[in-house]
Amino acid sequence: MARSLFAGRHVCRLIITTRYWNRTLAPKWNRAFGQDYRERNGMIRKAKVQDIQAIKKIVEPYGKAGAMLPISLAELYDRLRSYFIYDDTTDGVVGTAALHVTWDDLAEIRSLAVAKSHKGRGIAKGLVAQCLAEAADLGVGRVFVLTYVPEFFAKLGFQEFDKAKLPHKVWSECLKCVKFPECDETAMILKV
Ligand SMILES: CC(C)(COP(=O)(O)OP(=O)(O)OC[C@H]1O[C@@H](n2cnc3c(N)ncnc32)[C@H](O)[C@@H]1OP(=O)(O)O)[C@@H](O)C(=O)NCCC(=O)NCCS
Repeated sequence: MARSLFAGRHVCRLIITTRYWNRTLAPKWNRAFGQDYRERNGMIRKAKVQDIQAIKKIVEPYGKAGAMLPISLAELYDRLRSYFIYDDTTDGVVGTAALHVTWDDLAEIRSLAVAKSHKGRGIAKGLVAQCLAEAADLGVGRVFVLTYVPEFFAKLGFQEFDKAKLPHKVWSECLKCVKFPECDETAMILKV
């Protein structure tokens, strides 16, 4: 009886310590060191040809549901160099995002998607941060998105702006969208 009470006290202590870490210490660590604590089970890296099928598997259901533009395998291979992926230690590729340079001082984040099973772990936030870092490295000053989830991008500092101000080149991609020309996406932009 005394031994089980002793063990119970240790279990309680462990639960309290874990909660304290998750709710209080980890977010502080995260803010201080810039890495999302929830991402610790994997890494973000540039995509390789071997990742293309996995990327397709992530984006395809969202494309079919109209949450993002559908993309073919041929296009994915063409644009491989634009893609980042989140490689989970146990589950493999579960997130993706691509940075496309559009014009002078302007780039677009496209194909941002996280597998349903891995949402809410800071993966998309990390992928966007990686795209922004690459834009800065390339000397691009502004990054925009056309999105159905403006609240997500607003959390990361993006601001809504008039999509009519985007260069015409952007709309060539939209020709294959079933909703064209009635675009109901929100344009959001961030200075890098
Ligand atoms: C939108 C999406 C990319 C978010 O991925 P995720 O990995 O779950 O997002 P994160 O865990 O990085 O979330 C980061 C923050 O944004 C918030 N967030 C996530 N999805 C959100 C949404 N749809 N609306 C508002 N806020 C959202 C999170 O609560 C979190 O906030 P916090 O930092 O205050 O805790 C993912 O839901 C997805 O793949 N959706 C379908 C495809 C899509 O719409 N892509 C966008 C195309 S532009």
